[in-house]
Amino acid sequence: MRVAGSLFRTKSIDALLADSQDAGEGGLKRTLGSFALVALGIGAIIGAGLFVRTAAAIAERAGPSVVYAFILAGVGCAFAGLCYAEFASIIPIAGSAYTYSYVTMGELLAWIIGWDLVLEYAVGAATVAIAWSEYFNKVLEYVGLHVPYQWSHSPFETMQGTGLHGVVNIPAIFILFLMSALLVRGTQESAWVNNLIVITKVAIVIMVIAIGWGFINPVNHTPFIPAATTYTTHEGVTHAYGGIMGILGAAGVVFFAFIGFDAVSTAAQEAKNPSRDMPIGILGSLVVCTILYVLFSYVLSGVATVEDFRTAGKEASVTFAIAKYMTGYAWLGKLVTIAILAGFSSVILVMLLGQSRVFYSMSRDGLVPKMFSDLHPRFKTPYKSNMLFFFFTAIFGGFIPGDIVGEMTSIGTLFAFILVCAGVWILRVRRPELPRAFRVRAVPVVATLGIVVCGSMIYGLGKLNWIRLAVWLAIGLVFYFGYGRTHSRIHATGSQK
Ligand code: ALA
Repeated sequence: MRVAGSLFRTKSIDALLADSQDAGEGGLKRTLGSFALVALGIGAIIGAGLFVRTAAAIAERAGPSVVYAFILAGVGCAFAGLCYAEFASIIPIAGSAYTYSYVTMGELLAWIIGWDLVLEYAVGAATVAIAWSEYFNKVLEYVGLHVPYQWSHSPFETMQGTGLHGVVNIPAIFILFLMSALLVRGTQESAWVNNLIVITKVAIVIMVIAIGWGFINPVNHTPFIPAATTYTTHEGVTHAYGGIMGILGAAGVVFFAFIGFDAVSTAAQEAKNPSRDMPIGILGSLVVCTILYVLFSYVLSGVATVEDFRTAGKEASVTFAIAKYMTGYAWLGKLVTIAILAGFSSVILVMLLGQSRVFYSMSRDGLVPKMFSDLHPRFKTPYKSNMLFFFFTAIFGGFIPGDIVGEMTSIGTLFAFILVCAGVWILRVRRPELPRAFRVRAVPVVATLGIVVCGSMIYGLGKLNWIRLAVWLAIGLVFYFGYGRTHSRIHATGSQK
């Protein structure tokens, strides 16, 4: 009984708030206002999901009905985002969903979420790094250079038509290294660079929509929802294609494009006025991106064909579509490619930032070793975490294909979102008196809808992804029972209900 009880021991919110006050001088610096947070959100959100995964969803799952998939994913994120915003406004502490669940659903679930967030942030960063590598090769082509296939692909990929195998994705590892190094230097500088990149990125998306609109071929949009069938990828994986299942699967894939708005919540400890700025940061960035995505996917699926995205346009798909169909706009293709490289870099930066902050919190709670919360004496950043996650993400980015890491990121995040939706509701029931700077209206309805919509995307992602998630979570449990449970600060002090 005692053992079962202790798995659900919760960390007290009051202790948590006191912790963050205590952090004082030695803690993270409060430098981010609400504009910086929206920018941080957009910096994390627009990236490989839009510029790489959209084409994969068109090719393998849904054709032009990817537009509906974006709407579905956006709706799911809005529900989860509202719940995130309420949590963030009560608990202005670094750590995101992990921290929120520690005070609501107990240590075991908090661990599961914290572990799951590694999929979202670290594996997500690796996915974007792989996408970066695709567009990096395009830039090199402009100046007559090229990273050979073997050195820019994972060993599990084969070049269509040649049988050439990848060995390691060196450009992906390179960009992960660069961004990790920047993070060690500190958030303030990183946020400044990020603002600049965000403006460029949004401008590019708007340009592609505006110019591409004139090149939409209605034939590519007919039928808008392809008949339900299956599609087997070049690597031999079969997915439902077309119909409702196609849209659900595509929503699971492009859900990746929305990941990041919640990363804003991980910066709560660095926000100037968390209770006001966090909800603005989270929801503001989400709304802007949803509108852009729906328009962008409508244009992309209208300009090029499904067959394009299954073959030559599989990589660096946006640049491909511009080059092949948008005659007279070669300059746009080049601009997009360069902006995408900068844009992806900012996404990697924010994801790695989120990851190190989650481990910072977990480490302060004793669930992972103390070295992860050691701050750099001069830069005040959790530099050891940054370095560890460089190695971790480099393994994923260097050696695993983008499709696999992308879908793992999606499913892991969807699972975390479901737990967040449940958590905000539980907290309303258990601690109704807590001040909430931001309150979700009709929380049972919003939380339930969030759970259902995110659950339907998990369903759409298919069996192979469910198995991957289960294996990942099982590994996490081994770590928890082998280390975290006995090293937890609560274990030492007793439950703090
Ligand atoms: N949403 C981020 C992207 O699409 C993770 O790259």
